Amino acid sequence: MWNKVQDTVKFLQEKGITTPDYGIILGTGLGNLVDKISVELTIPYEEIPNFPVSTVAGHSGQLIFGTIGDKKVIAMRGRFHYYEGWTMEQTVFPVRVMKYLGVENLIVSNASGGVNPAFKVGDIMLITDHINFIPEHPLRGGNDDRFGPRFVDMHEPYSYKMIAKMEKIAAKMDVTLQKGIYLALQGPTFETPAEYRMVKLVGADAVGMSTVPEVIVAKHMGMTCFGISVITDLGVEGIVEEVSHEEVQKVAKVAEKIVGKLVEEFVKA
Ligand code: HPA
Repeated sequence: MWNKVQDTVKFLQEKGITTPDYGIILGTGLGNLVDKISVELTIPYEEIPNFPVSTVAGHSGQLIFGTIGDKKVIAMRGRFHYYEGWTMEQTVFPVRVMKYLGVENLIVSNASGGVNPAFKVGDIMLITDHINFIPEHPLRGGNDDRFGPRFVDMHEPYSYKMIAKMEKIAAKMDVTLQKGIYLALQGPTFETPAEYRMVKLVGADAVGMSTVPEVIVAKHMGMTCFGISVITDLGVEGIVEEVSHEEVQKVAKVAEKIVGKLVEEFVKA
């Protein structure tokens, strides 16, 4: 893993990527942040050595390097979900690469189902903490001390300082934010009513199928993380409704404009 990461980093540096200030994983709900980046380089995943490559035509992603204001950013357009069949190593590989390109700050976004009865469809939630219910851990197996310690401190998975900063920016923009705990399940099924109830009972506010492995690995390597989630549907007792990928995409698309603007201002500041 170490050698693979270093080889990929070398390739990207030779392409012209130099020490980005922020790594950004553009999940559902943040796709249009690409429009806020002054793009210098776009590299399709299939051209990047050791990057997982999707066998589904037209489903490949891109690594984007550029600037937002005077900050250098590297963004993943398209992420790897565990439910797609990638191994955990593959799922988190790009985060390892970002770290050795010099990224210290990681911004992740996703779509999720809200289980907090105070939430509405379309709400934007700052992730304050997470619960990992994905049945495989990205750090299981022998630990390579060059990446980080065997036992990783997780007392501040999402930076308090960044959360406070984003709250200030949102207030200035007159955007209302929710805050909450994100629970990750493997997917790819959405939850049954009983499962949404379980998610709430164990103390989470929203449930999704990504982000947590990436943040765990980022914390392993000492990175600072910030997460933002668009509530695209509700799994609240009494109002559990049909969920579809199309509906999730549709809601995310509307929230995307606001999330894109928030993150743009956040990075600039
Ligand atoms: N459950 C899991 N993942 C999701 C959901 C959900 O309700 N909505 C968007 N991603």
